[in-house]
Amino acid sequence: MKLTTLFLLLGSALADPCRTRTVWLCGDSTMAPGGGHNGTEGWGQYLHYSFGSSIRVNNSAYAGRSARTFTREGRFQAIMDKITPGDWVVIEFGHNDGGTPATDTKYRVDCPGMGSETCPVTYNNQTEIVQTYVTYLRNASSIFLSKGAKVIISSPTPNNPYEFGNYSWTPTIYQYYSWYVAQSLGGPEAGIYYVNHGDYAAQAVKLLGPQVAAANYPMDHTHLSPHFADLFAQAFVLGLKCGTAPLQGRLVNATSRIEGPVLGTCLSVNATLPI
Ligand SMILES: *[C@@H]1O[C@H](CO)[C@@H](O)[C@H](O)[C@H]1NC(C)=O
Ligand SMILES: *[C@@H]1O[C@H](CO)[C@@H](O)[C@H](O)[C@H]1NC(C)=O
Ligand SMILES: *[C@@H]1O[C@H](CO)[C@@H](O)[C@H](O)[C@H]1NC(C)=O
Ligand SMILES: *[C@@H]1O[C@H](CO)[C@@H](O)[C@H](O)[C@H]1NC(C)=O
Ligand SMILES: *[C@@H]1O[C@H](CO)[C@@H](O)[C@H](O)[C@H]1NC(C)=O
Ligand SMILES: *[C@@H]1O[C@H](CO)[C@@H](O)[C@H](O)[C@H]1NC(C)=O
Ligand SMILES: *[C@@H]1O[C@H](CO)[C@@H](O)[C@H](O)[C@H]1NC(C)=O
Repeated sequence: MKLTTLFLLLGSALADPCRTRTVWLCGDSTMAPGGGHNGTEGWGQYLHYSFGSSIRVNNSAYAGRSARTFTREGRFQAIMDKITPGDWVVIEFGHNDGGTPATDTKYRVDCPGMGSETCPVTYNNQTEIVQTYVTYLRNASSIFLSKGAKVIISSPTPNNPYEFGNYSWTPTIYQYYSWYVAQSLGGPEAGIYYVNHGDYAAQAVKLLGPQVAAANYPMDHTHLSPHFADLFAQAFVLGLKCGTAPLQGRLVNATSRIEGPVLGTCLSVNATLPI
């Protein structure tokens, strides 16, 4: 047996279901404390209400961040330094990731593609080899998994699907990429799961209708009111409940109390999805 395997086994032996665990949140303003400012809020702030006292939520999401800047600024690293076996990490990016690195004045967009493509740019007078969204998330996830943690890749929240009048929800490419990251790293068997947060949140907004949506995207079509941040946390919880990740065992809510006229129901998915 390899030494690393031995440590992983020791890690799972320690992962007894009653011990306090941390769920570390990595994301952008739609998840972050204080949201995108100006009275908006991030959904990560409401997640702890659905967990018992055996789960601590650390919301490390930060406004304006992409998979690239979360990596470059050491925000994944800060979690890697503290994470312990049995912890969970939820990673959700996509709102600040799209564009072309060569012309991006915020130095945050990822290299287009879903493989090992790179885009060298000059940032702070140094060459930065910009990677793809998939590379950044696979890299961070692999390190978390190697530390005995489990990972949930969550698809980004929807922009207001009533923005143009009638309901219209088309996920961005980052929904596909986030599924692909979990799938390509081995899915549930490897301890990495996909929650289709985008579709679950869109389902809730659809049920509430255009007036409620307009009132709860108060700043623009992306950032959330505190009420919608809470709603989107609950939509994530429904997605977690409808999947297979053992983290669902720590939720205080019965599925029958979550499904309903506000959030909708479990979504039917392909048997091959790594949920
Ligand atoms: C948010 O608030 C800041 C500071 O009060 C202000 O400068 C900015 O224009 C506001 N942005 C929006 C989109 O309302
Ligand atoms: C969350 O984790 C980060 C990274 O370790 C840490 O800097 C921060 O203080 C933590 N936040 C809370 C509220 O504990
Ligand atoms: C992988 O993640 C570590 C920790 O965040 C980081 O230091 C490193 O630059 C990352 N590598 C790539 C290719 O993103
Ligand atoms: C980049 O180099 C230029 C020219 O040497 C210098 O004026 C500038 O301060 C440097 N910028 C940074 C961020 O180091
Ligand atoms: C919304 O859908 C209705 C019924 O299909 C249609 O008559 C109306 O023009 C649509 N409105 C917009 C803003 O697209
Ligand atoms: C679960 O129950 C708690 C406590 O009643 C509540 O705050 C939370 O919003 C509920 N979560 C969902 C997804 O219904
Ligand atoms: C799910 O199944 C449908 C119908 O077979 C297929 O078109 C779609 O590409 C599948 N999606 C994924 C993510 O596998």
